[in-house]
Amino acid sequence: MANDADKDITNESSIDHWKMSWVENSIPFHLLEVHPSLGRHVDKLTKGRDNLTIFFPLCGKAVDMRWLAEKGHKVIGVEISDVAIKTFFKEANLEFTESDIKDGEGKLFMSKDENIKLFQCDMFKYKREFGGMVDAIWDRGALEAIDVDQREFYLKLMLSILKLDGVYLLHCFEFPDGAFETGPHEIKQNEIVEMFGPKCSVDKLEDYMLSQAQLEFHGIDQDTKIQGNVYRIVQK
Ligand SMILES: C[S@@+](CC[C@H](N)C(=O)[O-])C[C@H]1O[C@@H](n2cnc3c(N)ncnc32)[C@H](O)[C@@H]1O
Repeated sequence: MANDADKDITNESSIDHWKMSWVENSIPFHLLEVHPSLGRHVDKLTKGRDNLTIFFPLCGKAVDMRWLAEKGHKVIGVEISDVAIKTFFKEANLEFTESDIKDGEGKLFMSKDENIKLFQCDMFKYKREFGGMVDAIWDRGALEAIDVDQREFYLKLMLSILKLDGVYLLHCFEFPDGAFETGPHEIKQNEIVEMFGPKCSVDKLEDYMLSQAQLEFHGIDQDTKIQGNVYRIVQK
């Protein structure tokens, strides 16, 4: 990571766009309930273990974070929008503290019980020292949201914070060209195997077609075939 840490691959215009989306409450990706795939596979994420630290890259205000914290896990999230983070705590009815991150790259918002720590900073400036090593990663709407040329840096960062016996669950989509007006980016299985390379083994836990109700929720044409996939990635 030494050389990578010096690289600046921040995409300022993308960051401005995301921040504005939160200010305008234009957040069609946000789910009101726990993500169904996480609900189905939580035991694969935790391997049935208690008291884990679970990492949420590009966390938004995902209700999944509160759900896992209520199960007794610690949660670490990274999100560029302070609006998203403050709204998360408000909607979860949780009091929080706010402090600067040591090296001035952003802020840490932490629940009073210290079980949920959300770093408001650019994912590409996040450092392992901020939240330490983690037992599991739930990646929904994260790898698929970043630019394709940021993926290599992002994945190195994820693997640098994931304990060797940790589990990385990745949710992503396959769909015909033009199905979504803006993101997410499509990610195919062969790309995942290529990205994680020889260091990890990848297996698919499920695939499913988006239902009519889900298509409607996302404002997508009812005839469009969109497949959700969940992969389990572990280090060899
Ligand atoms: C597609 S949303 C997914 C949010 C969340 N994972 C969920 O499942 O609801 C992507 C989120 O990443 C945040 N984001 C985008 N670029 C980021 C960056 N470089 N660093 C940190 N957060 C970022 C956006 O503000 C947005 O909340």
